[in-house]
Amino acid sequence: MRILITAGPTREAIDPVRFLSNRSSGKMGYCLARVAARRGHGVTLVSGPVALRPPEGVTFVPVTSALEMLAAVKRHLPRCDALIMAAAVADWRPRNVSPQKLKKATASRVLCLVPTPDILASLRSKKGRRIFIGFAAETERLLAEAHRKLRDKNLDLIVANDVSRRDAGFEVDTNRVTLVDASGRVQALPLMTKMKVAARILDWLEACGLSARVLQRSAE
Ligand code: CTP
Repeated sequence: MRILITAGPTREAIDPVRFLSNRSSGKMGYCLARVAARRGHGVTLVSGPVALRPPEGVTFVPVTSALEMLAAVKRHLPRCDALIMAAAVADWRPRNVSPQKLKKATASRVLCLVPTPDILASLRSKKGRRIFIGFAAETERLLAEAHRKLRDKNLDLIVANDVSRRDAGFEVDTNRVTLVDASGRVQALPLMTKMKVAARILDWLEACGLSARVLQRSAE
């Protein structure tokens, strides 16, 4: 398969030296890219700024902001069979980016934020037969939120991730996730390395891609 994977945070500039971002390290997305490339898939990795080296054999597309990530995903999606959005896209950006460094002279400062585009939601009409996988990073109501995002973003699979725990989610090498697919199947996985989580997600994707092809052939 040709798989488009996003990873890492995005950075939304405030001025030439400051930005808004989040705690994503990119580890989960890079593990997915590494495992997919090792299995022989064609991988394009669109990554926000992280301290990781891109895995060998992937087409690497570095980006900084949510708007840049959206443009890169739109550019590469037409040639792909599946999209895995593991990136932690910033939900807001400062409305105005100061061309000069803001000075601390003022005691308080109000930043006006505007929403960034929801990349997955904005690709709804371009999905076609492609398989879309998203992540749900939650601190409460994990499964309810995962189901809502699966439906609202028109996904085939969502990886629900409780990011309030110290051994799972942001920055660490392990993760505890629940896979929820569009047919209603819920699979809670135990704590495991992000490489193993990546392998399970790719097992699901490969099985899904295979059955889609079988269905397509039997309809022909
Ligand atoms: N996502 C996206 N574009 C955004 C924000 C998120 O495509 N602007 C994707 C993420 O990559 C992830 C999924 O949507 O695969 C869910 O992201 P998450 O941060 O959990 O949820 P949000 O959509 O931001 O919703 P909420 O703020 O209500 O949690």
